[in-house]
Amino acid sequence: MVGVVPDRVQRAVALLDLRGDEVVLEIGPGPGAAAELVLARHPGVRYVAVDRSATAVARTTARNRAAVDRGRLIVRQGDVTDPDLADTVGGPFDVVLAVNVNVFWTRAACTEASALAALLVPGGALWLVYETPGGDDGRVLDGVRASLAVPGLGAPVVVREGVVAVGARRSRAGW
Ligand SMILES: C[S@@+](CC[C@H](N)C(=O)[O-])C[C@H]1O[C@@H](n2cnc3c(N)ncnc32)[C@H](O)[C@@H]1O
Repeated sequence: MVGVVPDRVQRAVALLDLRGDEVVLEIGPGPGAAAELVLARHPGVRYVAVDRSATAVARTTARNRAAVDRGRLIVRQGDVTDPDLADTVGGPFDVVLAVNVNVFWTRAACTEASALAALLVPGGALWLVYETPGGDDGRVLDGVRASLAVPGLGAPVVVREGVVAVGARRSRAGW
């Protein structure tokens, strides 16, 4: 049985539109709810979760102990701003997800977005999803768009239904 999953996480997982055989990378899983939901719904999915916080790593691991033990979930401590991110997470990935990870809207995090795009298979999707209870959607949207305006990512898709979400696919034609 899946534990309590916040509405923003449920909406984020729905946006991924998974077939069920993907390899997924999540940046900033926090307590690990998205991993739990995805792995419960899709027995064929493999998942890597990376958080800079040791507490988040411990919580994600504890919440998803069975998936970790079966090798379906790898949890690593790391920072998306780390230039050696690829060494930490492996890849390539079909989908990269981050929910409420602020670095992508508080500044133009183009280096980080490029690093994540490089971890995607051609056509793979990067989704950045935010809950904005204060209603400050515009600032978040502008910031995320600026971060995603990098070579190798296609035109962003914006979703504003309970969350502010921006998705972009890695170009199939290369960089
Ligand atoms: C606000 S919490 C959101 C947790 C979860 N995604 C959710 O929506 O419930 C943000 C998480 O991202 C992690 N985080 C923030 N910045 C990060 C970074 N630069 N690299 C890796 N993890 C980061 C934090 O440690 C924290 O666990």
